[in-house]
Amino acid sequence: MRIERGTHHAATIARHMARSRQISHARGASFLPSYGAQGAPELQIEPIDPTAGGNILRPTTLAQMVGQEKLKPLLRRIIDVARETESPMDHMLMVGASGTGKTTTAQIVAHELHRRVYQVKAPVSLETFEKLREIMRDGEILIIDEIHQQVSGDRRGATQACDPETFFHVMEDRQLATATGMLPFPAITIIGATTDAGLLPEPFLNRFPIQPRLERYSTKDMAQIVKANAEALGLTLDDGVAPMLGAASRGTPRIANNYVRNVKVLTPGTFVRVDVAREVIEVLNSTTLDGLTLDMQRMLTFLLSSRRENRAGDVVYQASVNTIATALGKSRDTKAIALYVEPWLIEQGWVQVTHGGRQLTEQGITRARALS
Ligand SMILES: Nc1ncnc2c1ncn2[C@@H]1O[C@H](COP(=O)(O)OP(=O)(O)OP(=O)(O)O)[C@@H](O)[C@H]1O
Ligand SMILES: [Mg+2]
Repeated sequence: MRIERGTHHAATIARHMARSRQISHARGASFLPSYGAQGAPELQIEPIDPTAGGNILRPTTLAQMVGQEKLKPLLRRIIDVARETESPMDHMLMVGASGTGKTTTAQIVAHELHRRVYQVKAPVSLETFEKLREIMRDGEILIIDEIHQQVSGDRRGATQACDPETFFHVMEDRQLATATGMLPFPAITIIGATTDAGLLPEPFLNRFPIQPRLERYSTKDMAQIVKANAEALGLTLDDGVAPMLGAASRGTPRIANNYVRNVKVLTPGTFVRVDVAREVIEVLNSTTLDGLTLDMQRMLTFLLSSRRENRAGDVVYQASVNTIATALGKSRDTKAIALYVEPWLIEQGWVQVTHGGRQLTEQGITRARALS
């Protein structure tokens, strides 16, 4: 935690920090404008600026970003227009599975815009907006992670969510509705990030003129990410290591990062052999070479054991989500199944959702048999 350019008395700063625990500020090395002594108070809590070295595997420019080949040139143009016209960029909603680069892309956009960036996690309270109103300036960026939690009711331990109308006024009218009336709000750009845009109601969604979806990365992209990570960590990879770690990463850069970090720990020196990569995947993470976690393997083999006849008299391999959760030792925690276990199996075309629960497809039966 670091406080910069301290024109404020320590007690004032401490008060800011206590009131705004939710707010973190991406402190930029060179790209942030500096504020003079009369400027806004700076909240420097848990800085997230990747250029500051906290996460050396996170790309900080569009050029370093692997994959998303359709999205990158469009972002480049949008960023260039906003810079040339010095106008705030349109609000943007980043949608994508966990670890596919929503926060990274949002930070890259802010970085390339050369604008100051703040980051909060939804739900956002009126108090947070009041604070942001004081410290933010026109054209700056506010990243709101897990933005679906503003409306989903999933507000564990969080502050009081302000109502969607307050949000809409900030986004569209640049006004903050407070107890004492409407106050002007800076013309900022909100970049929302969510794993589940389906939880946001239409009026919320259509306030974001830009809504890119981050796709899973191809195995080629994943191998490239592994190589870039290895380089960043000073490792040299034997032939076959990057494709192997890439294939086991389920199209998800964060998983590749974790594997490369594991490999570094287990490698004496800097040359990574294929058998170390295999050990990291299979032994250290109990994952198959094609990326199935233990829970995913269990779900497939459990479904294979749940052979029954459906109403039409066909043999199906099917179970209810509750039963699957219990079988996986998740005490009927169906949310864990929905979030972490089944999406990849469904994406691969191995499992399908039916009114009887979850069912193996033909390819799913083949994959499950190969596991047992
Ligand atoms: N396009 C990319 N190229 C290279 N590395 C990437 C890319 N996208 C993400 N990464 C890496 O993956 C990590 C995880 O990405 P990030 O934190 O942005 O995911 P996220 O979508 O915000 O996940 P969550 O939903 O869990 O918050 C980053 O730290 C970065 O190292
Ligand atoms: Mg994120």
